Amino acid sequence: MPDLPFDFAAAWANSMLQCPDVRLDPEADRAFWQKYATRYDERAGDTAVIAQTLAIIGDLLHPNDTLLDVGAGTGRFTLPLGTRVRHVTALDQSSAMLHVLRRKAYARGITNITLLEADWQDAVVEPHDVVLAAWSLYRLVDLRATLEKMVTVTRRALVIVSGVGSSPPHRSLIEAICGKWTESLDPNHLLIAGTLWQMGLLADVRVVSETREIVGSTPYAVAQLLAPDASPDALDALEEGLLPLLQRCENGWRYAYPQMVGIVVWLSGSTLSVSV
Ligand SMILES: C[S@@+](CC[C@H](N)C(=O)[O-])C[C@H]1O[C@@H](n2cnc3c(N)ncnc32)[C@H](O)[C@@H]1O
Repeated sequence: MPDLPFDFAAAWANSMLQCPDVRLDPEADRAFWQKYATRYDERAGDTAVIAQTLAIIGDLLHPNDTLLDVGAGTGRFTLPLGTRVRHVTALDQSSAMLHVLRRKAYARGITNITLLEADWQDAVVEPHDVVLAAWSLYRLVDLRATLEKMVTVTRRALVIVSGVGSSPPHRSLIEAICGKWTESLDPNHLLIAGTLWQMGLLADVRVVSETREIVGSTPYAVAQLLAPDASPDALDALEEGLLPLLQRCENGWRYAYPQMVGIVVWLSGSTLSVSV
């Protein structure tokens, strides 16, 4: 390997190992999604919050394509993108998440999706025209091995969607009241693109600002949605702090905030060796 100015893959691994999350363990992570699948779908299922990301991925797709969605979850990307391609393989380690996806696909009459319950490290998959992993690499410590396997099954485009380490307006409130902020503050999009670079592959990096929206019947309900594990006292304090950020809406109270999203796109054949 050449002398590296910065080891992106090691930075990714260090950051995971320095703040060990119990969900690095596959069993614990599956147990989490078993309990949380329906709530995740209610909270994240609205495609308005991923509109720009979907448009960028949609532009990479052709009608005759096959798409592999790694960590498909409840189908937030699989279902809208499925209408743009010939076939989708929705891979996820969680039967609970795939169960919700199956129900939604059936309700919408979508039949070009194959569900594959598997952990990415062990999965055996055929090459696909486009490979997508959106918000699903959070427990894969060996980023290089993860990406190498993805590249192996990518025929035309590999797309990874991740956080960029930005902070939403409620971060300071949560930290002051609950004591800690659990979402990643690392520039994951850069670590992913940097690890591809270490592999000799040149990727494009885009950052878009999506709008996330949390609606609750009362300000307290919004606080509960933002900090489901907080104590009643902490929720009272959070409710008070959030009030200036909330707006009245038809269904109660709405908190809208920007979420910065990183989109890393590698096109097959794009390498560091350029020829004239
Ligand atoms: C935050 S959800 C994202 C789901 C979907 N991509 C979206 O953006 O709504 C993460 C999903 O990745 C899945 N996942 C995490 N690690 C995985 C792995 N190593 N192999 C397969 N699925 C994985 C989880 O089970 C979960 O359904």
